[in-house]
Amino acid sequence: MSDETKVAEVVGEIIPAPPRAQAIAAFKTEPPRYAGGSRVPGWDDPVDLTKDPATIPDPATTEVPAELRAEIEDLMTRYPDPKSASIPALAAGQRLHGWCSPEAIEQVACVMRVTPGYLIAVASFYDMLDTKPVGRCRVYVCTNISCSLNGADELLDAVKRELREGDDIHARGFECLGACDIAPMASIDGVYVGPIALDEVPTLVDQIRKGEDPLPDKQLNKRRSVDPEANG
Ligand code: FES
Repeated sequence: MSDETKVAEVVGEIIPAPPRAQAIAAFKTEPPRYAGGSRVPGWDDPVDLTKDPATIPDPATTEVPAELRAEIEDLMTRYPDPKSASIPALAAGQRLHGWCSPEAIEQVACVMRVTPGYLIAVASFYDMLDTKPVGRCRVYVCTNISCSLNGADELLDAVKRELREGDDIHARGFECLGACDIAPMASIDGVYVGPIALDEVPTLVDQIRKGEDPLPDKQLNKRRSVDPEANG
């Protein structure tokens, strides 16, 4: 007796079995993993204990772009403890410099009055903050359950295959991005797009390459809301 039939008997009716074997087979497809078992390379790089302890960067000698300083100062006013602004402040530094480079970390640390080491500890923990240069545009293809069952691994492969040498695009798999209803989906520098068909991938990558709006008709933020007040 199959599992599906047993379940049907428990609830007292005979119902057609769902395509369970198909779903399990899709779920079991092994995602690529790096040494240590992670999907994210370098997350467990050891700290360099030979370096001198860092100090808080001196504002007199650390040049911080005015816009970045203003953004970080504004972020710091939003929390009871200004240090709580570390993640969005690092994200602001990353947007400006392309990654959490030593220069970006130094500038953020200078404005926040913390050591670069404090911020590196935060940046190296959070998946969306890059402590190595990866590419200006970040394409996160969700490979979590809803997206996996709708072909996310094939989508990620197709996006990677479409990239050319010299493209400043970082495409990678990501855990649930919270938009499971548009699976399979991807975040293009924070713009949610989905469901993405495999034959739309060449257009999508070309639009990203040219700095155009990615698949405008598939963007989550352009969907109409059931709340008429929310539609512009
Ligand atoms: S599983 Fe992909 S957005 Fe949730």
